[in-house]
Amino acid sequence: MRKIAFRLATFLFAACLAGSIAGAQTSSNAVDAEGHPWWKHAVFYEIYTRSFADSNNDGIGDLKGIASKLDYLKELGVDAIWISPCFPSPQVDFGYDVSDYENIDPMYGTLADFDALASEAKKRGMHIILDFVVNHSSDQHKWFLDSKSSRTSAHRDWYIWRDGKGPGEPPNNWVSLFGGSAWKFDPATNQYYYHFFYAEQPDLNWRNAAVKDAMFDVARWWYKRGVAGFRLDAVDTLFEDPKLQDNPILRPGTNHFGDPIEDNKYNTNLPEVHDMLHGLRKVADESNAVLIGETWTADVAELNRYYGEGNNELQLPMDFLFTMVNKLSPADFRKQIAGVDGASGWPTFVISNHDIARSYDRYGDGEHNDQIAKLMAALYLTLRGTPIMYYGEEIGMKTTPPTNKEDVKDPIGRTGWPEEKGRDGERTPMQWDGSENAGFSKATPWLPVPPTYKTHNVADESQDPNSVLEFYKKVLSLRHTNRALLDGNYTALNESDANVLSYLRLYKDQGVVVALNMSDAPQTLKLELEGKGFASAKSLLATGESAAKGAEVSLGPYGVFIGELAK
Ligand code: NOJ
Ligand code: CA
Repeated sequence: MRKIAFRLATFLFAACLAGSIAGAQTSSNAVDAEGHPWWKHAVFYEIYTRSFADSNNDGIGDLKGIASKLDYLKELGVDAIWISPCFPSPQVDFGYDVSDYENIDPMYGTLADFDALASEAKKRGMHIILDFVVNHSSDQHKWFLDSKSSRTSAHRDWYIWRDGKGPGEPPNNWVSLFGGSAWKFDPATNQYYYHFFYAEQPDLNWRNAAVKDAMFDVARWWYKRGVAGFRLDAVDTLFEDPKLQDNPILRPGTNHFGDPIEDNKYNTNLPEVHDMLHGLRKVADESNAVLIGETWTADVAELNRYYGEGNNELQLPMDFLFTMVNKLSPADFRKQIAGVDGASGWPTFVISNHDIARSYDRYGDGEHNDQIAKLMAALYLTLRGTPIMYYGEEIGMKTTPPTNKEDVKDPIGRTGWPEEKGRDGERTPMQWDGSENAGFSKATPWLPVPPTYKTHNVADESQDPNSVLEFYKKVLSLRHTNRALLDGNYTALNESDANVLSYLRLYKDQGVVVALNMSDAPQTLKLELEGKGFASAKSLLATGESAAKGAEVSLGPYGVFIGELAK
């Protein structure tokens, strides 16, 4: 049932397992009375720029489109938006191939549009996070054009160039995550360059101090423009073994691109990554900015390394292990939540993004999907940590992959077809209303709008008190106002229950209980409150018939109960 696009995420995960794969916008040195920086209480929301809102009706989302939806986001309960790469780019990887780090791609607008967006966000007390593609640039970036121009060019050593092993033979056996050898031969200079992703995304050489300085200056440049932080792309791929040793082969056979199945021992997760992140954090601290990491880790110990010694690297490394709990299993969620709750830094929760099949159908059973979407919202929005939502999740958007190879836009979907359909399915246009093109654009959108826009869209769901959207608004409002949900400790409850995941959030003498029925049958549970200082629960938010009587909670199928504890 798992959607094909999710396999990329699974692959990234497997690779990492094997490889062990103005001033900032606010006066964000502002911490509250208890010393919490803003990002600990904030709800982040990822916007896939191409697909959110199209202001000039060319079928592609843009910055003015985003600006036009800030009120919607504010009302929803979003505090910070992470905008997927909007920089000049040939768009081979839809912006993750940057050809100029200090500008805006004309298809998304101008720097003036960015400034206007930043200023509108600031008026609403919202923060802007940009996507910093640190591992690689586009092959059309001026640095790479110079680098490939000759072996003695000023930027030659800004990328990773090597001689082949022999005629027609790349320097080693490394394969690209996106298929084929990770080396591309350049006949003009008779050497190969290295690319972990597409050949159009050559890896920068982070061992070169000039690269480091230039990239750190890029960060400073955006901080001065009002950016509150960055989401750092593919951080585990920054460094490679200088000796370029062959990666071990994990097992016989090939992956869905027809390549050998390798342990990425020598080209991911090298310890030098942490020196770089520490340096980038120092730059962020100059502007009180926040760093979020695309951190695929094998376990919590590895996640801990991304927080750094004494929390001197990333404030918010995403816990992708949480997305790997791919079934409604209280036991599996308990284990993962306890793990990340015991991490050395503040947890960061996501349930889907532009590389991962949408949570709506990953967890949905085809019958109770809306109810399950509410359950998942209640889960990751009430845990101790910072949640990062993905656009459309709040209205129950469904993964809708292309059905014909000719329609695929994401190149890996063409290379890997039919086993790997690419990531188009989770990047479809935001469903604003029931009109043509779901109100996203007046022109034909760059990806087709899924048929579900008729039943799942912002306009209609805003009118329906039982919609997924209205539920999201209620949970978000609660988590912004309830001190126990903001700062309380996490304590697992009724740990032997096979159907209901329940936990407490405890803050001083205040307590909240969350009970989530992960089964399709009604459930009753007696909250094991003995010794916790509480005796009963009173509803704050519940779905359907779910309710509490004293310490007994009854839940409908996939029901949610969130209650205030009383003595
Ligand atoms: C991770 C990004 O999320 C993904 O979309 C992209 O293709 C790769 N990094 C390469 O930048
Ligand atoms: Ca547009």
